[in-house]
Amino acid sequence: MKPFIRESSIKDKVKELAQRLNRDYEGKTPIFIGILNGSFIFLSDLIREINVDCEIDFMKLSSYGDNQISSGNIKILKELNCQIEGRDIILVEDIIDSGLSIKYMRTLVEKENPKSLKIVALLFKKNVSNLDFEIDYVGFEIENEFVVGYGLDHAQKYRNLKGIYVL
Ligand code: IMP
Ligand code: MG
Repeated sequence: MKPFIRESSIKDKVKELAQRLNRDYEGKTPIFIGILNGSFIFLSDLIREINVDCEIDFMKLSSYGDNQISSGNIKILKELNCQIEGRDIILVEDIIDSGLSIKYMRTLVEKENPKSLKIVALLFKKNVSNLDFEIDYVGFEIENEFVVGYGLDHAQKYRNLKGIYVL
């Protein structure tokens, strides 16, 4: 396992993303929707840097199993519990790889007529993803490498690491 992004750099980046969100959502009450399991640490750190009123919900998708390659076959394992209609929604992802999961989530949320919909991703494999929309807030753009730590797993392990590592 090779060190890739250290804890202090992640911290700085999370603060920077939160600052932008605080500016952009001033006077609003957005709902942060974390996509489980990977985003749980990122979202919990991010939310503590947010100083506008906000709500939180989670959704759980499955597509990878224990493989490193996306199967493209997405299932909903936990549905949303919040009302999306008329609300400012912020989807929070740990990492965007093929883009299939975020595309799926985005379509799902858009069907419910949110007032606005933005996406925050800590990591973005820009050259791998095939997206026809923007990722509004990106922490780090990375190459096509499999990374673990800070919530990201391989076969459910390594989520507890404080930094991010290339496997
Ligand atoms: P996508 O649908 O291919 O964009 O994959 C998104 C999901 O796959 C992420 O939310 C992660 O849970 C997982 N994933 C993608 N790339 C990695 C990686 O490099 N390390 C760990 N998990 C990953
Ligand atoms: Mg994930």
